Amino acid sequence: MAQSTADSKQVALASGPLFAWVAVTNRCNLDCSHCQRGLLKSQGLLEAREMPWKVFETFASEILPHLKRIQFGGSNFGEQLMASHWDTCFERVSKQKVGISLVSNGTLLSAERIKAMVAAGVEFNFSLEGTTEESYEAVRGCKFTKFLNIIKQTCEEKIIRADSGARVNLGFTASRNNIEEVTKLLRMAAQLGIDRVTITHFVPWRETQRQLSLVYHKELANRMFERAERLASELELLVDLPRPFRIGNNMEESKYHEGDLKSVSIPCYHPWQSVSINERGDVMPCCATSAVMGNLMRSTFSAIWNGRKYEKLRRTVNSPRPLIFCRDCAFRGIELQSREPLSFCSDERLLLAAIGLDMPTNSFPLTLRKIKYRLLDTPLGKKLLPSLLEYYRRHGAFTIMDTMSNWPDFLAKRVSRLNRKRASAQK
Ligand SMILES: C[S@@+](CC[C@H](N)C(=O)[O-])C[C@H]1O[C@@H](n2cnc3c(N)ncnc32)[C@H](O)[C@@H]1O
Ligand code: SF4
Ligand code: SF4
Repeated sequence: MAQSTADSKQVALASGPLFAWVAVTNRCNLDCSHCQRGLLKSQGLLEAREMPWKVFETFASEILPHLKRIQFGGSNFGEQLMASHWDTCFERVSKQKVGISLVSNGTLLSAERIKAMVAAGVEFNFSLEGTTEESYEAVRGCKFTKFLNIIKQTCEEKIIRADSGARVNLGFTASRNNIEEVTKLLRMAAQLGIDRVTITHFVPWRETQRQLSLVYHKELANRMFERAERLASELELLVDLPRPFRIGNNMEESKYHEGDLKSVSIPCYHPWQSVSINERGDVMPCCATSAVMGNLMRSTFSAIWNGRKYEKLRRTVNSPRPLIFCRDCAFRGIELQSREPLSFCSDERLLLAAIGLDMPTNSFPLTLRKIKYRLLDTPLGKKLLPSLLEYYRRHGAFTIMDTMSNWPDFLAKRVSRLNRKRASAQK
């Protein structure tokens, strides 16, 4: 239904979004070694915030009634259970007939929270990077036994309230340090009564972490993925694995084929179906971009949803000339109703681009990151960076960068027009 709306190229919509990513806070109780959060904080790019109640109310009254599903967490570097108003927000949402997912480190779940959330049929997605005290704690810095007890309690409650439809999933970020634990992970999951395990790639953010990426350990990774696949079918466990690597001579080379590229030929339905809202009330079209369509502190949702920016996005996203942040996007073609894991960390080519290898890609996040690192090299750049990024998110993503990317085309057209004029004058 929403898909046919996308096909019809309608830019002004009478219907609202069906899916929302919501972040009510960017605060977190952990400081995981693999997470970009620590780096952003040290660069002064992460100021602790919570969604103002006024924004949550606007969300609840204007957006929530349209939604089929809402996902808390996983769209920013925060832990949603850390929000001081989490319980009130959750209570408000759970009164609505809407599917609720939570991406969480799980460590702030109390027995009461588990009971209330299981009763509301929540889909829990607990993150981990290790299956032993040593490997889990090395990354998360908190007690593995505590984490495990919380998962056990949630799974037990899910069995008691089997009618609720609650599900308990695990999300495992795989790197060189833990890839050999995947079979142990699956056995542990089966024993606990987990519904689904999703394994995604660790993406290094610091140069010192580069060699932890499985891009540098392709054969080992493929072997482990294969073993995991066999074991999953033995255990009758639902497991999502990244696609196996193509093995080449050069470990940094992605032997992608024509058609692997998530090009504009793959349609994107997000601007018709989904929204992402952060703790500041910024409305974005999906969680693949930080380009802001409007802010719920300043506008009503309907003014944003059918505003100039959304209209431009819908007009261009499936055209031959999409906005710059929509090019090479790994989220293209992902059906929100499908069970495909929503993660660019499953795509080898984008993983390489994120790492910063010299890829034949138009990846905009990579270009932006390069600019950011240049700025961070100078004291003035460092000072200006937060405001420049903010400016880019609010305005640049829609205008400046897109206009700039059109210059080469514009100049080429001018040159060929001049050439044609000159040729006809010579005749
Ligand atoms: C940023 S966290 C936010 C939600 C919550 N705090 C949690 O830990 O699940 C969302 C997911 O991103 C994953 N993640 C963090 N850093 C990552 C990295 N460098 N590469 C890939 N995934 C990462 C986390 O393990 C987690 O599964
Ligand atoms: S708990 Fe989640 S957001 Fe917090 S540091 Fe760890 S991965 Fe990042
Ligand atoms: S192409 Fe990507 S960035 Fe653009 S709207 Fe779709 S999912 Fe979002």
